[in-house]
Amino acid sequence: MMTDMSMSDIAAHQRADHSHDGDPRIRAENVSVFYGNKKAIDDVSIDIDQDNVTAFIGPSGCGKSTFLRTLNRMNDTIASARVEGRITLDGEDIYSSGMDVVQLRARVGMVFQKPNPFPKSIFDNVAYGPRIHGLATSKSELEGIVERSLKRAGLWDEVKDRLADSGTALSGGQQQRLCIARAIAVDPEVILMDEPCSALDPIATAKIEELIHELRGRYAIVIVTHNMQQAARVSQRTAFFHLGHLVEYGDTSAIFTNPTETRTKDYITGRYG
Ligand SMILES: Nc1ncnc2c1ncn2[C@@H]1O[C@H](COP(=O)(O)OP(=O)(O)OP(=O)(O)O)[C@@H](O)[C@H]1O
Ligand SMILES: [Mg+2]
Repeated sequence: MMTDMSMSDIAAHQRADHSHDGDPRIRAENVSVFYGNKKAIDDVSIDIDQDNVTAFIGPSGCGKSTFLRTLNRMNDTIASARVEGRITLDGEDIYSSGMDVVQLRARVGMVFQKPNPFPKSIFDNVAYGPRIHGLATSKSELEGIVERSLKRAGLWDEVKDRLADSGTALSGGQQQRLCIARAIAVDPEVILMDEPCSALDPIATAKIEELIHELRGRYAIVIVTHNMQQAARVSQRTAFFHLGHLVEYGDTSAIFTNPTETRTKDYITGRYG
């Protein structure tokens, strides 16, 4: 009976139907994005699969963040932004009128450049999503979700004795892992990360990269990065954007060692950017 299933059961059930059929998690077809009259993304089509980490690279202003935001409709929050084309998540059109955007953003979580924990306790930061989505039926169940999410985000050992402390009292690297734990807590299908390490020192960066390795396969992960070494280290697929176009998309090793397009080669060899 449907009524006996919680939201998370339904979500997990729907997901299970799609997770092993080899279809892409996300498919974008002929996507263009405008800010007013200005076209920031021009006719981009791309498949993003479950098992690989996908890196978006390209010079500043080429549209990486703009395109990333189309994947969970964060562009809806920008009044002048307009999206054309079609984007599906597990075959479902995310821009259809029936799509619940709050639900979508739980399924496609986002981690930003600057860690943005809520001014709440560490516990409440992670419990926030499960609470609004009704994913736990008891206090102990909620505590279980918080612990599991913090463990998965590689932060549990550092915070388990101070869960009541404010999330904003953590170091930058810890805050970023808290934000990842917050995204994980609602059991997303996809995690989008927009330059998640650019405000972090090398040690905190290494921890996030390690975490991305560990999360790979459990969630489809897309990461925007300006750091070529990072793209090479963490991703298996790389998409190179230039002036709003998706110039080249393929295996990271091929993009970095043997790109097809001159523009890709120029960028990865540091000729511009
Ligand atoms: N809110 C906005 N309103 C108007 N134009 C915008 C807005 N956000 C981005 N743009 C423009 O869209 C283009 C793409 O910007 P975007 O932020 O997606 O690039 P990016 O590749 O993420 O760059 P960076 O590497 O510097 O973060 C740029 O020309 C930018 O000025
Ligand atoms: Mg950006």
